[in-house]
Amino acid sequence: MNVYDSARMADVLAPLGYAPTDTPADADMVILNTCHIREKATEKVFSELGRLRAVKAERHAAGHGTILAVAGCVAQAEGAEIVARAPYVDIVLGPQIYHRLPEMVAQASRAAGAVIDTDFPPEQKFDFLPELAAPQSPGGITAFLSIQEGCDKFCSFCVVPYTRGAEASRPAARVIAEARRMVAAGAREITLLGQNVNAYHGEAPNGGTWGLGRLLHALAELPDLQRLRYTTSHPRDMTDDLIAAHGNIPALMPFLHLPVQSGSDRMLAAMNRRHTVADYLRIVDRLRAARPDIALSSDFIVGHPGETEADHAATLSLVQAAAFAQAYSFKYSPRPGTPAAGAPLQVAEAEKDRRLQALQAQLRTYTEKFNAGCVGLTVPVLITGPGRHPGQIAGRSPWLQPVHLSGPMSLAGQVVPVRIKAAHTNSLSGEFLQERATA
Ligand code: 5AD
Ligand code: SF4
Repeated sequence: MNVYDSARMADVLAPLGYAPTDTPADADMVILNTCHIREKATEKVFSELGRLRAVKAERHAAGHGTILAVAGCVAQAEGAEIVARAPYVDIVLGPQIYHRLPEMVAQASRAAGAVIDTDFPPEQKFDFLPELAAPQSPGGITAFLSIQEGCDKFCSFCVVPYTRGAEASRPAARVIAEARRMVAAGAREITLLGQNVNAYHGEAPNGGTWGLGRLLHALAELPDLQRLRYTTSHPRDMTDDLIAAHGNIPALMPFLHLPVQSGSDRMLAAMNRRHTVADYLRIVDRLRAARPDIALSSDFIVGHPGETEADHAATLSLVQAAAFAQAYSFKYSPRPGTPAAGAPLQVAEAEKDRRLQALQAQLRTYTEKFNAGCVGLTVPVLITGPGRHPGQIAGRSPWLQPVHLSGPMSLAGQVVPVRIKAAHTNSLSGEFLQERATA
């Protein structure tokens, strides 16, 4: 979502004459778009600010001004601390007010101190952001599109409801119009984004509201849009309609990121997830019944307050039962202001380390098994751009694995049949089956 938001900030600044550059030393303005989800992410902001302070000083010595801005969820949660620890920061802006950035830039060039805005305004920023000119990911073939933001779930460990605010969905007509513009600019795969994307309940084009399933059906109608994905989902919002969409919409790719966080019902309750392990596995079964080739991905937290060795063992069993194709796993990181941060029975760091290693080793075996299972298959690959070596191109499998192969760049933007020859830890390599593509 920060990638998408950064592109929207670039859009809103373009009329002021700003264009992206790769080097901070060349930049009249640097925006750090930040993440507050775990402490490590937050600490990175302060070390990066230290580096940018030196760049700003060098530019100043050469007679150039530099506006330094901190955007995103660290700005939202720690605006005052940022200005106290890094008084050379000029702008602090929360994630809901990117449409106000031009005003803030104007103010910053006049003001002596930092300009801070971490409001949750009544207007939706999306209604005020300029219409997208071109998609932002490399080659523009795969694009992100935010359809929903914020979260009302309040999981015990999570800062998102506090930093991104309450759940809000964009009207379906606006989402469809933006998708249409992305496709016109070359996008062939769109990933719909939201902190709780399957809680989407946007205003329908003709009144009423649409859920995510209905929206996916409408987007699948767009000519030239070959692939749809959505992320990130909550198990509680996997409605019948959405599960059915996985069986009915061929463009909806057979890969779903559905975080479970823990395999222990006791921990799921402590986390305020409001579902059980059995609920989760039932959803997985129903998804597999609707779309037999669907692969699942998940997020896990080890060492949430109160987690025992038995809870951890239950998580390992769930990994076995669900056979995730891919997963992210994290050590619990206490976030200020969240219920779990003040809870008793915090787990020792060394214990978290041990559990994380055990979980990751187990998850890795399932990812490797899944990737190895692709060898020998002929898989439709969306070619996204050049590969690592000359003559190589790269693409994505339906299951989001990067695929490397030899072939001409003229295939970019096309879905082509590729015979998978080898599986690596995080990617596949294969051979383009020319005859089949032209047949
Ligand atoms: N500590 C560790 N991991 C966290 N996540 C969210 N909050 C925390 C936290 N306090 C993880 C969850 C979520 C993913 C985006 O980040 O697993 O699904
Ligand atoms: Fe955070 Fe996701 Fe829980 Fe919302 S549903 S509080 S975003 S972990």
